[in-house]
Amino acid sequence: MATATIPGPRMPRAMQTLGWTSRPLPFVERAHAAFGDVFRIKIGRDTFVVLADPADVKQVFTGDPAVYHAGEANIILLPFLGHKSVLLLDDAAHLSQRKLLLPPFHGGKMRRHVGLMREIAEREIAGWPTGVPFAVQPRMQALTLEVIMRIVFGVDEGDPRLARLRTRLTHFLETTATPREMRRLLVNGPIRAERRRIFASLLDPVDAVIAEVIADHRRRDDLADRDDVLSMLLLARHDDGSPMDDAELRDELVTLLVAGHETTATALAWAVERLTRHRAALERLTEEARAGGEEYVDAVIRETLRLRPVLPFVGRRLTQPQTIGGIAMPAGTKVAPSIHLVHRRGDLYPEPMAFRPERWLGVRTNPYTFLPFGGGVRRCLGASFAETELRAVLGVLVSQVRLAPSQPANEHVGRRVITLVPDRGGEVVATRVAPDVAMPSAA
Ligand code: HEM
Repeated sequence: MATATIPGPRMPRAMQTLGWTSRPLPFVERAHAAFGDVFRIKIGRDTFVVLADPADVKQVFTGDPAVYHAGEANIILLPFLGHKSVLLLDDAAHLSQRKLLLPPFHGGKMRRHVGLMREIAEREIAGWPTGVPFAVQPRMQALTLEVIMRIVFGVDEGDPRLARLRTRLTHFLETTATPREMRRLLVNGPIRAERRRIFASLLDPVDAVIAEVIADHRRRDDLADRDDVLSMLLLARHDDGSPMDDAELRDELVTLLVAGHETTATALAWAVERLTRHRAALERLTEEARAGGEEYVDAVIRETLRLRPVLPFVGRRLTQPQTIGGIAMPAGTKVAPSIHLVHRRGDLYPEPMAFRPERWLGVRTNPYTFLPFGGGVRRCLGASFAETELRAVLGVLVSQVRLAPSQPANEHVGRRVITLVPDRGGEVVATRVAPDVAMPSAA
């Protein structure tokens, strides 16, 4: 059975692409309502089979990774991330990079980053305007960039490279997100764009400063005492005992930047957008932060990621024919477990559209019904890192400022290259909390 026979919208490919790019969630919701838990959509040159049943999601996440390839599904990022990026590899090459990257991102290691994350958040939030509307998304992006430069790249305060890295990474991240550069990528295709170095003028300055950072780290004799990810990667060894070379380190640093920067900033912007429209939740969060607790903030993070997942789905390409949801699919089919549709199922989440952090209190998450970070051997490497950062930033936020939405209406789900963002950037008005009621800056 070819994918053409899998049910899905009959409108022409161009119309489906338009539906997806202009209002991605309603487009997929309509198709789900019409065709059920397994349906086909055509976007750009691709055809995806969307999966909305947790049993099918489980099949994909627990299936043989050699059958469910994810690296090739991300190939569009090749010109930026490079050939050694964990995000773009499959099979043994993927596992070998993932094994090296996992230890620095292990949940147990995250506590040691909380102090610096809070410090960075305090400094950023202290610079926010008061009394006038502003969008939090760009502010959160500046904040998450700082976190990555300091904790992942390991560039210390006072190092002259920090300012250069900040300017060049910001330019790179902003420019690659413009429609002009996206078009250049789509017209050339990722493989030709990489071979011909189409983005050299954007990448060379970034690569030059990253090379300096790596070289500087290599000269250090205190790597074992340092907490940053680059230091740990320099000490990591492949199975054959060899260290990571400069090309591997460069590709993984850029991967961690691209995978971890906008995603976390977007989750923070959504948390602000939802909380400012749910005053009781915001009050409870503020009280808990003042008392030093963490249960409610975790519930807020989960509820935000449930209702406003940063990425709508994850992708896998079948290397062999498979039957999923009772439907036979040929090799080459691209399947897309839908984070968004699973998270809004009424049979899993009563009143699924209600933002209610309380639903998570005392509840363990199930990897096939709550999947904001994807799953299986491809589950987000930075999930604990992101959760730690979200917790730290939200704690600082409610202690430093009171926030109100600039307009009462909910923000729509818009798009920024790959992430689903609040369409007005999470626009709020802030007032400062008087210093005597502000919390001590804990760490
Ligand atoms: C709220 C923030 C974040 C969200 C929602 C998110 C979500 C995701 C998702 C959905 C995937 C794909 C998983 C799959 O295919 O099953 C992924 C992969 C990945 N993420 Fe994240 N992510 C976040 C933050 C981060 C951070 C902070 C980092 C690192 C600093 C990071 C690094 C990665 C990497 C390296 C992968 C590729 C894993 C692999 O292919 O083995 N992410 N992320």
